[in-house]
Amino acid sequence: MAGNTKIHLLDLKREYAFLKKDIAKETKKCFATQSWILGEQLVTLETALTGYLNTKYALGVASGTDALLIALRTQAFRLKKKGGFFDAKDEIITTPFTFVATAEVITRAGATPVFVDIDPATFNISPSSIKRAITQNTKGIIPVHLYGLGCAMDEILKIAKTHNLFIVEDVAQSFGASYKGTKLGTLGDAGCFSFFPSKNLGAYGDGGLVATDDDMAAILTKALRNHGQLQKYDAAYIGYNSRLDSFQAAVLLAKLKHIDRFNELRNNVAQKYARGLARVTQVQLPLVPKNHTHVYNLYNIMVPADIRDALLKHLGHQGIESRVYYPIPLHKMGAFCNARRVGTLENTEKASLGILSLPLNPFLQDGEIKYVIKAIGDFFSL
Ligand SMILES: Cc1ncc(COP(=O)(O)O)c(C=O)c1O
Repeated sequence: MAGNTKIHLLDLKREYAFLKKDIAKETKKCFATQSWILGEQLVTLETALTGYLNTKYALGVASGTDALLIALRTQAFRLKKKGGFFDAKDEIITTPFTFVATAEVITRAGATPVFVDIDPATFNISPSSIKRAITQNTKGIIPVHLYGLGCAMDEILKIAKTHNLFIVEDVAQSFGASYKGTKLGTLGDAGCFSFFPSKNLGAYGDGGLVATDDDMAAILTKALRNHGQLQKYDAAYIGYNSRLDSFQAAVLLAKLKHIDRFNELRNNVAQKYARGLARVTQVQLPLVPKNHTHVYNLYNIMVPADIRDALLKHLGHQGIESRVYYPIPLHKMGAFCNARRVGTLENTEKASLGILSLPLNPFLQDGEIKYVIKAIGDFFSL
């Protein structure tokens, strides 16, 4: 394979070539109905997703960020907070090793983010760190199922039960993954999914979903996504314009039929990387703990901090795209200067310096996988 060949992290053009007919069939229905907002395609998608996730409600919203925000506001209502907004003294515990949105919504819902460290083996929030961070002001936890792998949910659910805390799961990167046979996003009080194009189930624009079994949460979610209206033209609360439009719902319906196969193909690529990279002792490969299925939204290796950027550069010279998710932990960002942090967060800081995402998508060819493995081997002079 030539040195200038581009191997992409994500390859939506190949995916579209494969799905073209299905996408055309579903989106055509939107043009026929001309019902673009809260229309038939959305209802069909929501019904399909309640079946797929095995949850009572699956409600489309405009983004994963909005799904998290609306789920938090719903919890604020449940706690009888005025207007469905928390007070600044209310604390919500999460990981600083995630995308900005996870913590941004805590502040937007009125509460204070509390950052605790991750488990260095999985990069997910550490249950023992959560325990240490709990105070009388703690109201809830947002576990983020990062990269496609679930958090240690048994322990987290137990902590939440003991301290009477809510759990809003951030499942943006883990659509289709499960823990002990149950789909992620259905273990806590609400599961918040993103349909951002790079996600395993991605729309052709922004989109998100709130999954819940709770009747009252469903009523509030429907109201909040539609300007806080419980009845048309009568806003009971301050809400949002946050509907998942029919066109995105149609694209998602077309893709949903293939999601399990796509996740299986992602898994096959991950197994090939694991076999090929096993001899590179300087590299830590993704771990899949017992009882979890991993859907590999991202395939991340951990390398010594002093060579990570050189490896990224070397791969780039070979025409291989690699990226860092995430280079700056949230507790180091100006936006979160008011957050509370607990402990040294050293595992998070170490991860941000050593992590590297390799190309992984359902359409990656064997020759491309071998080429990436060889390029990494060459870097380490193996
Ligand atoms: C972990 C995590 N949480 C939340 C979000 C926000 O989702 P969206 O971009 O759909 O608003 C994302 C995606 O970008 C994410 O990766």
